[in-house]
Amino acid sequence: MELKPFEKKIWLASPTMHGDEQKWVDEAIITNWVSTVGANINEIEKQIAEYVGCKYAVGLSCGTASLHLAVKLAGEKLYGMPKPNCETLQGHKIFCSDMTFDATVNPIAYEDGEAVFIDTERDTWNMDPVALEKAFEIYPDVKLVVVAHLYGTPGKIDEIKAVCDKYGALIVEDAAESLGATYKGKQTGTFGDYGCISFNGNKIITGSSGGMFLTDSKEDADKVRKWSTQSREDAAWYQHEEIGYNYRISNIVAGIVRGQIPYLDEHIAQKKAIYEAICGGGSCAFDLCFKAV
Ligand SMILES: Cc1ncc(COP(=O)(O)O)c(C=O)c1O
Repeated sequence: MELKPFEKKIWLASPTMHGDEQKWVDEAIITNWVSTVGANINEIEKQIAEYVGCKYAVGLSCGTASLHLAVKLAGEKLYGMPKPNCETLQGHKIFCSDMTFDATVNPIAYEDGEAVFIDTERDTWNMDPVALEKAFEIYPDVKLVVVAHLYGTPGKIDEIKAVCDKYGALIVEDAAESLGATYKGKQTGTFGDYGCISFNGNKIITGSSGGMFLTDSKEDADKVRKWSTQSREDAAWYQHEEIGYNYRISNIVAGIVRGQIPYLDEHIAQKKAIYEAICGGGSCAFDLCFKAV
């Protein structure tokens, strides 16, 4: 079958700069905090945690890094620390959104898990809680679900969570595209055991790159921060006792994010206005999407 590209497109967000981004980047350079530590990182971690309503936000190099460490953390909690040369999800099936960007599923493969894709429902274009329940009936041993909110539109996350709770499964919530979107008054990224957001150039606010891991657990936040900085132990010398990653956000990237955060609500309002302009509140294919936001 020959696939033809659509003639009309609705573009994802392109970066919209406001001026303060330059100020915080300049400050980082002038004060010489050109590194993966600095005031911009501390500030955006505090501001995003406050905004979404979680206790801890850990700044990382991208949303994919956040998803990777969230999936690894969930894997260690469920199955323990893997043996040398093995990954945490080896031999385990993981339920995952089937209509999403591939960064949702890649971390499952990084950790050697086997992704089982769950069908999408029509209302929000996200994981179908009914299909998820059926999947648990077929595979009752599955203990981890990775669920995305595609295009910033929240999925039926309370129903998905109820199914996961019933089967004792953890949730990694891929809120990479949905920073600022709420479901029944609660911010996406705060429903799952771990939430992941992205500041990629096509997101609602951007740092050019960057991402965050969201949690209410200090222990888990500390673990992810440590893994993201090559798992360096708290010692005056270079001591490493477990595998680490170079996943921490840069203070320069964080400066751009810092300049963007005050405009998050404005960007969301503009996105809604675009929806209204295209669909006019009528019954086009996108009609249901923004109603949940
Ligand atoms: C649904 C989804 N998950 C994960 C990611 C990964 O984020 P990042 O590009 O910051 O690694 C993206 C965006 O790129 C995304 O759209």
